[in-house]
Amino acid sequence: MKTVMITGCSSGFGLETARYFLEQGWKVIATMRTPQEGLLPQSDRLRLLALDVTSQQSIDRAISDAGDIDVLVNNAGIGMLNALEGVSPEAVREIFATNTLGTIAMTQAVLPQFRQRRAGAIVNVTSAVTLKPLPLLAVYTASKAAVNAFTESLALELAPFNIRVGLVLPGRSPATRFGENAQRIMGEIPAEYAVFSQQIFHGMQDERAKVTRPEDVAQAVWQMATDPDTPIRLPAGEDAREMAGNRV
Ligand SMILES: NC(=O)c1ccc[n+]([C@@H]2O[C@H](COP(=O)([O-])OP(=O)(O)OC[C@H]3O[C@@H](n4cnc5c(N)ncnc54)[C@H](OP(=O)(O)O)[C@@H]3O)[C@@H](O)[C@H]2O)c1
Repeated sequence: MKTVMITGCSSGFGLETARYFLEQGWKVIATMRTPQEGLLPQSDRLRLLALDVTSQQSIDRAISDAGDIDVLVNNAGIGMLNALEGVSPEAVREIFATNTLGTIAMTQAVLPQFRQRRAGAIVNVTSAVTLKPLPLLAVYTASKAAVNAFTESLALELAPFNIRVGLVLPGRSPATRFGENAQRIMGEIPAEYAVFSQQIFHGMQDERAKVTRPEDVAQAVWQMATDPDTPIRLPAGEDAREMAGNRV
């Protein structure tokens, strides 16, 4: 029986992906900053572990407690929607610490066991905005585009060890807590950008717009984890596939 470890399982894509792998009969190590019982169906194949991807101590403890893992899903992340002038330096550091450095540190922590076993897969959840840029997302997009570049170089380095590394690129998903969680660090939109920002927000709230469902991401992560023929960049969701066009 295979084991997947997923970061950021308290809500959204991570929670849905944990549920999906459980349904497929895998052992699931669902990690959360603050583990909460009752979010996922009860199962003797489910373990909850505490993990903050910005803390090396927390990473080392979680990887050691987890034991053997077959697939790591780097899903934990935070958003940021603001004009660059309105973004604090602390927020920039927090976004990169979580989205970029957290992914790199988790990958480093799991690699020794993958290399020794000559097996394993790492799935990094980035975003379709790295393929088709949107305004007000410069810092967020940079934090995820860095993970794309990291992943594509690493995939070549790890292929000789039979370790696969791939990217799942979701589109916009109003169903997760992403927007709500981003509020904490977003800051005020500068007055000079107010009209422009309103236009962008209005476009995003269009109910007819295509979106990505959490189950689209879960299925894409599953495909990336289990099918070695999957291309290294896999858009997830109708809008993401449209944004990707022929850019993947
Ligand atoms: N929703 C979208 O529109 C969208 C689009 C493209 C890509 N994505 C990406 O998809 C991934 C999942 O986002 P989501 O939409 O499911 O949002 P979400 O509901 O806010 O979930 C994000 C998860 O990341 C966790 N997290 C944040 N900081 C963490 C840290 N330092 N250590 C460990 N976990 C941490 C959160 O846990 P806490 O509860 O502890 O905060 C939460 O479980 C993110 O990487 C995001 O960038 C989202």
